[in-house]
Amino acid sequence: MSEESFSPDWLALREPADHRARAADLVAPLVEWLESRQSRRVLDLGSGTGSNLRYLAPRLRGEQEWTLVDRDADLLDRATGAAVTVPGVARVERIPGELDREGLGLVPGSDLVTASALLDLVTHEWLERLAATCRAAGSAALLALTWDGVINWADPDRDDELVAAAVRSHQLRDKRMGPALGPAAGQAAERAFRAAGYDTWLRPSPWRLQAADASLARALVDGWETAVAEQRPADASLIRDWAQNRRATVASQFALEVGHVDLLALPPGPGAP
Ligand SMILES: C[S@@+](CC[C@H](N)C(=O)[O-])C[C@H]1O[C@@H](n2cnc3c(N)ncnc32)[C@H](O)[C@@H]1O
Repeated sequence: MSEESFSPDWLALREPADHRARAADLVAPLVEWLESRQSRRVLDLGSGTGSNLRYLAPRLRGEQEWTLVDRDADLLDRATGAAVTVPGVARVERIPGELDREGLGLVPGSDLVTASALLDLVTHEWLERLAATCRAAGSAALLALTWDGVINWADPDRDDELVAAAVRSHQLRDKRMGPALGPAAGQAAERAFRAAGYDTWLRPSPWRLQAADASLARALVDGWETAVAEQRPADASLIRDWAQNRRATVASQFALEVGHVDLLALPPGPGAP
């Protein structure tokens, strides 16, 4: 997996863990807020193959129209047919495009703006524009599964923290938008929406991986090994040893927590400042 593209295999591998991890208690206040709307137009930013739609659409009441935006047309092409045949979804439109052009441009007219596993890739400036654009449009926002920097193994290895710190630094690299927010993104998003007058709820949504998730854990170890080798080339042999040990860990019983957060932001009611 490169810094700029995400393979469909990786997205498929993480989807069950993503759906399990999401902060389910954020759905009820969102559904309640949507009751006051005439429509259910949902904009999914950085949609990939439609995982967020598959999670959220069955949980939102009423007939919905979804627009998926992603810069990767191949991923969008996979969000077709059975992949998006979800009860309640009347229409799915797929728009290949960038978050800062097509993405923000489609916010007006959306009742709900949503994203999953996206925010750690974006810039602070884009996040502030997103909050301001949502506020101007009166849209709610549900921004799920933002990595918060936590990587916790149940059986510690002395190099875990070095690896985790290097992964956090690596995540700050430019993803073709400017320096990424990385693990700070969840809190930054909450601040941006609060500053725009929104009521916000920030909830933990960690992956809690065990033996049944060995393929996902193994892919994580491989990805972290590559990222840390780029970040700390002088520590190549230490990183190789760490990854070898961790591949052995995930081949037997293990417990691994990878922290995420979900943010719900609801716009102020009529008459609010
Ligand atoms: C980690 S994937 C998450 C995909 C999907 N939301 C999910 O939960 O499976 C991030 C997605 O954001 C897209 N993306 C990243 N930066 C983007 C940008 N600047 N404009 C449009 N799409 C972007 C990527 O192509 C990728 O599909």
